[in-house]
Amino acid sequence: MGMDDILILGATGKTGRRIVRRLRSAGRTVRAASRTAGDITFDLNDPATWTAALDGVTAVYLLEPNRSPHPDGQAPLPRFVSQAVSSGVLRLVLLSAYGVGDAGDENPLKAVEQAVRDSGAEWTILRPGWFAQNFSESFWRPGILSGTLTLPTGDGRTAFIDAEDIAEIAASALTDARHAGRIYQLTGPRAISVGEAVELIGKATSRTIRHVDVAPETFVEYQIAAGVPADAARLLTSLLVAVRDGHGAEVSDGVQQALGRPPRTFEDFVSEAAATGAWD
Ligand SMILES: NC(=O)c1ccc[n+]([C@@H]2O[C@H](COP(=O)([O-])OP(=O)(O)OC[C@H]3O[C@@H](n4cnc5c(N)ncnc54)[C@H](OP(=O)(O)O)[C@@H]3O)[C@@H](O)[C@H]2O)c1
Repeated sequence: MGMDDILILGATGKTGRRIVRRLRSAGRTVRAASRTAGDITFDLNDPATWTAALDGVTAVYLLEPNRSPHPDGQAPLPRFVSQAVSSGVLRLVLLSAYGVGDAGDENPLKAVEQAVRDSGAEWTILRPGWFAQNFSESFWRPGILSGTLTLPTGDGRTAFIDAEDIAEIAASALTDARHAGRIYQLTGPRAISVGEAVELIGKATSRTIRHVDVAPETFVEYQIAAGVPADAARLLTSLLVAVRDGHGAEVSDGVQQALGRPPRTFEDFVSEAAATGAWD
């Protein structure tokens, strides 16, 4: 293994996969890590997999996987951060989320942000809003395909961010010291409702897609029935209710700050996803 490898957690996911692709095409040595695919088997819930993943690594892209239950009830990421720094990692880029760190915030990512900031390594924190790719690669895709997307967001609006923008910033932060000590709040350029979003996807795919609003308590029950752990279901719902209540509509200039250009629009995302068969 090389001496300056960059370890990418969540390398099969929405952001990690894009970061791996960008760094490799720039000629960097990357170690793609996940439980099921990539260059190395890595499980945050199995510390026995950590040492080999970190061998020879100087920079790490970190994320807290969604819905991953923690067997001993404790989030393992802060412990992984301290092992990473002891093993020679000099730079950490953390995928956090919009609003983490605000007063009264209960998101477990708050403790992870603190661990990264206190780690002694150079760090950059990314705090994105809702990903556009939730509609094309993730939990909202089945609703798009069925023609009915049920979410407790009402008419609330949010400025969906393209995961390509997040990946471009992460790849830059993993390789360029100018992002050290920065916290980037990342959104798209314009807040839209879920109703508008599915209408744009419907137009691009010549389908009728409806957003169906649902009471938050009912949405929690649906999630639990679908196998999501109760804590994760409540956290996800509370984040969607924030959109419903009008607290998700802020537009930030984080992409402009980090990359010197405006964020990609939702319309750009939709036409590219449709052209590459994301909803076929
Ligand atoms: N989606 C959104 O709108 C949104 C908005 C803001 C912030 N976020 C944050 O984004 C993060 C998720 O990032 P993402 O969307 O890029 O990932 P993702 O698409 O949800 O994929 C999760 C990745 O983590 C890996 N993984 C799952 N469990 C693991 C474990 N126990 N150990 C090691 N790897 C594991 C998965 O691969 P394997 O299954 O192969 O292990 C996969 O590569 C979350 O922390 C979420 O809070 C998401």
